[in-house]
Amino acid sequence: METNKKSIIILGIETSCDDTSAAVIQDGILLSNITANQDVHRKYGGVVPELASRAHQANIVPVVDTALKEAGVSKSDVSAVAFTRGPGLLGSLLVGTQFAKGFALANDIPLLAENHLQGHISALFLREKGDTHALPQFPFLTLLVSGGHTQIIVVKNQFEQELIGETIDDAAGEAFDKCAKAMGLGYPGGPIIDRKAKLGNPKAFKFAKPRIEGLNFSFSGLKTSFLYTLRDAAAENSNFVAEHADDLCASLQHTIIEILIDKVKTALKQTGIKEFAIAGGVSANSGLRDATEALGKKLNIKVHIPAFKYTTDNAAMIAISGYHKYLTGQFDNQSVTADARYYI
Ligand code: KG4
Ligand code: ZN
Repeated sequence: METNKKSIIILGIETSCDDTSAAVIQDGILLSNITANQDVHRKYGGVVPELASRAHQANIVPVVDTALKEAGVSKSDVSAVAFTRGPGLLGSLLVGTQFAKGFALANDIPLLAENHLQGHISALFLREKGDTHALPQFPFLTLLVSGGHTQIIVVKNQFEQELIGETIDDAAGEAFDKCAKAMGLGYPGGPIIDRKAKLGNPKAFKFAKPRIEGLNFSFSGLKTSFLYTLRDAAAENSNFVAEHADDLCASLQHTIIEILIDKVKTALKQTGIKEFAIAGGVSANSGLRDATEALGKKLNIKVHIPAFKYTTDNAAMIAISGYHKYLTGQFDNQSVTADARYYI
């Protein structure tokens, strides 16, 4: 009988880079999502892999414990454990993978090995209690933009994606982070540039835009053009960056978004798909979120923007991805390994 049906409870684990995260999902509804950020990398201006895996080791048990407590769930209630298999930093992935395998073995439950990029897309399907926002309908087009990836993907169903464009050099998040570093703004640079861009003029500076055929991206030319602007101006005025930081951030962000949206327009036209979504850490960017809304209105298509808190790395996206696999019985066994280059 429907009312006696046992709940499906998924514990999700994400440790692919520098965030240790655990989440609990019950019958597709998110109950908890706990993330421990690693401040240790800030002073190095980027993630130090060895320090990341050590911090994951210290954080994983308390993070999982808190996620279960907040969800009001005990270990014995968990139906399966979903974890990020890759892509990511091997040392970081190993911590989550080993923990998930141990947890599954000790509690005699199945394992669900998830892809981190697919997880970012699955974040679009996250719902909390009482949340009724419209979910994307297949097939839809996704711009996946993070610190390591910039891809245009046709999402055919929960398990099948087609990559139709990607960066040939730097990722969009990397462009934000490297340019922020050059301005001495700290790490990660994306959120800092986003904040400052709100105060600046997006037309104050012009930077080189790539001329790449088809649906691929390139950001290394923009980065070089940005660095040359700083170098040339600093030769005349050593205070240039401090005096123009807001305008530099606004112009850089404007250029990155133009590059992204131009290719998305081409992809929508080529595929004829009428739904578009953004995903990944850079989808937290307020300018990109606004540009996505505007694109939806202009082209009269449905757009999907993940809730801000599920844009950057989190375990909720891994748990929902695992939940979809659980429903179709796609389990993994104890021989599964972490895979730094696990692409879909
Ligand atoms: O998805 P994510 O958390 O980790 C990876 O899988 O890479 O993405 C991190 C990236 C970083 O490059 C960070 O600077 C960028 O997302 N990011 C942003 C914003 N918030 C995070 N970029 C632009 N604007 C933001 N508000
Ligand atoms: Zn990510």
